[in-house]
Amino acid sequence: MSAAGELAGRVALVSGSAQGIGRAVAERLAAAGADILGCDLGDQSETGTRIAESGGRFTPLAVDVTDRDALERAIAEPVRALGRLDIVVPCAGIATIGGPVSPAGDWQRVLRVNLDGAYALVAAAWPAMERRRDGRIVLISSMAAHRGSLVVAPEYSASKGALESLNRHFARHGGPLGIRCNCVAPGIIDTEMTRAFPPPRVADVPMGRIGTPDEVAMVVEFLAGDRSSYVTGASIPIAGGLFFC
Ligand SMILES: NC(=O)c1ccc[n+]([C@@H]2O[C@H](COP(=O)([O-])OP(=O)(O)OC[C@H]3O[C@@H](n4cnc5c(N)ncnc54)[C@H](O)[C@@H]3O)[C@@H](O)[C@H]2O)c1
Repeated sequence: MSAAGELAGRVALVSGSAQGIGRAVAERLAAAGADILGCDLGDQSETGTRIAESGGRFTPLAVDVTDRDALERAIAEPVRALGRLDIVVPCAGIATIGGPVSPAGDWQRVLRVNLDGAYALVAAAWPAMERRRDGRIVLISSMAAHRGSLVVAPEYSASKGALESLNRHFARHGGPLGIRCNCVAPGIIDTEMTRAFPPPRVADVPMGRIGTPDEVAMVVEFLAGDRSSYVTGASIPIAGGLFFC
């Protein structure tokens, strides 16, 4: 039962929790005992049902992560009621497909969700983590940030590259405060996002298959938990050995 898990008593803020990687992360952290605050624009009823069925606790917050004021208002009451906020995993994201350059509108739209939205989540949670001198942030980067991509548009790679920089920034500032920050960099994971892409060249993946959302969530759970107690500022590829996605 969840209450006995490694994260029992902890509170986790997860965005993008309606589906895909965000939902898998919410489920994993809930199964480890954390109370989950899930931020998404989409319908989160399936996430709530699945977590409740496994004995976990989930509070859906209908919020656009690009609206920083709305986000701070949405989390204020549940964080006050639960008395703490320990873990932040900004999974909300969008992707555009493209070549070397792309239209200005796409650039702004993707940066706003993937970069501003992730930053807003961390900024909203930071004071609560600093108060307790304990916090764990896991940012969702991409192999596109590590190695470039011939599939996604430049704004997507740029947004994820900026998260890799923020990872090191938060790790530097958080170290003395007991706040750890790490990144995961998924390759090709089977979600709604990648179903909109051209079919993946599975032959390019050394492990010969694409990944599952839960395979990302398991690494996030490790980084959000106590077993990674001396890991901060790291970026872990979860890509089956893929170098170019
Ligand atoms: N799927 C992959 O192969 C892959 C690879 C590398 C990185 N990622 C990253 O993982 C994260 C999750 O991706 P996914 O594949 O699960 O995608 P997905 O499309 O399945 O889920 C994204 C979720 O984000 C939510 N969302 C989008 N914009 C939002 C906003 N403004 N406010 C609140 N919620 C919003 C959506 O409603 C959706 O529930 C993203 O950051 C993505 O860039 C995915």
